Amino acid sequence: MIKLTVNGTERSFDGDPDMPLLWYLRDELGLTGSKFGCGQALCGACTIHIGGEATRSCVTPISAAEGQQITTIEGLSPDGNHPVQVAWRDLNVSQCGYCQCGQIMQAASLLKDTPKPTDQQIDEAMSGNICRCGTYPRIRAAIHQAAGQAASGKGDRL
Ligand code: FES
Ligand code: FES
Repeated sequence: MIKLTVNGTERSFDGDPDMPLLWYLRDELGLTGSKFGCGQALCGACTIHIGGEATRSCVTPISAAEGQQITTIEGLSPDGNHPVQVAWRDLNVSQCGYCQCGQIMQAASLLKDTPKPTDQQIDEAMSGNICRCGTYPRIRAAIHQAAGQAASGKGDRL
């Protein structure tokens, strides 16, 4: 029996311990904000937090979540108003949206560890989160806004 806490609620799971955590979150709990993209830790669409750290849930077995605090996009804030979510809305970051929950979770983790990131720190932290729609300039600007900084805007087209 694996015990874990998901978005503040204690859960237990009595199935295959090797099952990807993403499957558990989406199929067992119905938390479908985290997306399946590549299944190989290459795109970031499945990013959640384990103990506050951004984690690719597609390659994380549920056994690794034993005793851990898991946060998905659905639990990032009680009302959808985490500073990153507010900035994302203000700047209309999303295009098709498929990658965006993962982007937001990665960005929230970055700002927890680095409250005032530089462009370089943002680019490094976000480099594993792929967006086929190319929203990268808006992602960077939104992270600056969430951090309370003005975007550098060097050559960026929002
Ligand atoms: S689906 Fe997990 S990183 Fe792509
Ligand atoms: S908004 Fe479409 S893949 Fe990122």
